[in-house]
Amino acid sequence: MTKKRNILLGTISVRNQKFVPYPVGCLISHCQKNDTINKRFNFLEPLYHFDQAKTYDFTNVDILGLTNYIWNQLFNDKISKIFKEQNPSGLVIYGGPNVPETMDFSQEYMMDREEVVDVAFPGPSEKTFEDFLLNIDSKQLHEHEFTIGLGWHNYSSTRKAYAVPDSMPTPYTDGIFEKIIEKENGNLAGVVESNRGCPYQCAFCDWGAMTRAKVQKFNQQDVFKTIEYIADKKMKWIVLGDANTGMLPEDVELVQKVIDEKRNKHPNMIFTFAGLAKNPKKHAFEVVKLLSADDTNANKLNNVYKSFRVGIQSHHPDTLDAVSRHNIKPEELIKMAASTGSILSSELITGLPGEKVDNWFYTLEKEFEYKMRHSKMYPLHTLHNTQIYSKQYMEEHEIELVHLHVPDDLYLMTKKMYEPHFSGKLALEDLKEVKTKFMGDNFDEFEYSQIHLVRSCKSFSLKDLEEIHQMAWWHDIMYNTRLAREWMYTSNMSYREQYDKYRNKMEEGKMPLFKRVSDNLSYVFNDSFGKRTDNRMRIFTDNIAASQYPHNIKPHAAEIYLNLDQAIEELNEIYDKVDYRNIKEYDEKKCSHLYSMNAMLRHHVHDN
Ligand SMILES: C[S@@+](CC[C@H](N)C(=O)[O-])C[C@H]1O[C@@H](n2cnc3c(N)ncnc32)[C@H](O)[C@@H]1O
Ligand code: SF4
Repeated sequence: MTKKRNILLGTISVRNQKFVPYPVGCLISHCQKNDTINKRFNFLEPLYHFDQAKTYDFTNVDILGLTNYIWNQLFNDKISKIFKEQNPSGLVIYGGPNVPETMDFSQEYMMDREEVVDVAFPGPSEKTFEDFLLNIDSKQLHEHEFTIGLGWHNYSSTRKAYAVPDSMPTPYTDGIFEKIIEKENGNLAGVVESNRGCPYQCAFCDWGAMTRAKVQKFNQQDVFKTIEYIADKKMKWIVLGDANTGMLPEDVELVQKVIDEKRNKHPNMIFTFAGLAKNPKKHAFEVVKLLSADDTNANKLNNVYKSFRVGIQSHHPDTLDAVSRHNIKPEELIKMAASTGSILSSELITGLPGEKVDNWFYTLEKEFEYKMRHSKMYPLHTLHNTQIYSKQYMEEHEIELVHLHVPDDLYLMTKKMYEPHFSGKLALEDLKEVKTKFMGDNFDEFEYSQIHLVRSCKSFSLKDLEEIHQMAWWHDIMYNTRLAREWMYTSNMSYREQYDKYRNKMEEGKMPLFKRVSDNLSYVFNDSFGKRTDNRMRIFTDNIAASQYPHNIKPHAAEIYLNLDQAIEELNEIYDKVDYRNIKEYDEKKCSHLYSMNAMLRHHVHDN
């Protein structure tokens, strides 16, 4: 009998939180249901974390398979290089959302990894991987269906490519993560899917598209067993990975199930989800009601469900049209929220193609008008396998990209900010350290993530984008953190007049603290977006990197909050005779914990 081949698969999680390697767990769960595969191959315990992967001895591994996304692409490339050095005849397979599905980019992607990657699987790969293993000795690499490689592209993102397997993978209850969970004492996040796909086709998102439009449901009993398993194991965090929780009637039962399991077995388990339903209807509001009534979700993310966070992206019709996004009318949304006793928060994207400075301001003004509890703003990330990241779209919208290397220390630093005694002052000091460290010449892929951002397009210039970011910062500090929210609403000036006055006063030298922070923002913006577009720059991007998470303004907000008396003094330039009482509740003596970034997040920025 020939020796079984060893397969090592890995999904390396984000820097600041360990996740079980769910995507490769699905591949293993699916393939292990095939007897022939079990006879010929042996699946090793999967890789899940940077530190574990860095020190791994690959000498016994025949096949290495890694899933790729923004945060781990460079890291995976380096791991694969090390693997090939240790194991020149070993095979490296790539999968995950970062693998391009179209010819436009697949060859470029493979060329960049010529020495280290043998074959890649775009799209969901349970079936592709199963077929690949079954035919590994009878076919040449380029003959496998739904694969790409240097010099071949056997993939078209058809319905067939996106079809889910007949029986859905059940990695948790198969015991695939058992040892990892034990090793980490349950201190891990676990993703659960109850369906795949999204019926919409927003141009910036890799979730929806024509081929992924059909929402494919998992067996509900299997999903419930998975939820029970995660609660039994007392895992730290459960994340519902569906694109539109609350879109389907059965989502209400699903969320109820998680809440029951939490309550009965592990009240401290954090429960979050990847996305709430776009254009929410009745079920979505029921879901949020359940969550906000669940006191046992009281932990460090406790306030997340005080409001319903709805994906808006932009309020401006021209911007929405340019990215094929069609929202429910806000007035309807507000009526529905009111009738269910929900408060609304929103998600917005800065710098979408089609955006203009005034249109972005219109969006912020609408947020103010609709009294959103919190407007969470992400800068647009250009993701592979989205309509935006296609040659045709980029040409039509004259998109110029910037490829940035973001030091992972920033992610680690933002993690620290969640710790109870981490102060704003320390945040600023740490930031300086990160900056110094990464301005050096030695480039180590292990310490960076790569992101792709739009720096200009037909509708906005680089200068316009800077203004868009400045407006976002102003809304963030004044409105989101509630520094000036009361005064903004009671002022006789319009929202626009308030912004203009803020800019003018800064220019007149009357608001030196705000001016310093605003200048710093411009500096960071130009440092990251402005200089070069190539992808080999070592750049410091605190606001950009951190803003992938809801704390994009933290370092800057810290500067304001640490100089609160001066900030209020300066705000007096805009708002006459401001009442200090509201803001003084953040006074260091009265509640010093609010000076910790963590507390600031909990009580203000993240209080959504
Ligand atoms: C899972 S998604 C959306 C949930 C829901 N399906 C919807 O569309 O409202 C969560 C949020 O991620 C943000 N997002 C999605 N794609 C993005 C991209 N390419 N760059 C930046 N932010 C993005 C959007 O603000 C979106 O509301
Ligand atoms: S943004 Fe939301 S609705 Fe749009 S494609 Fe992505 S997941 Fe679907």
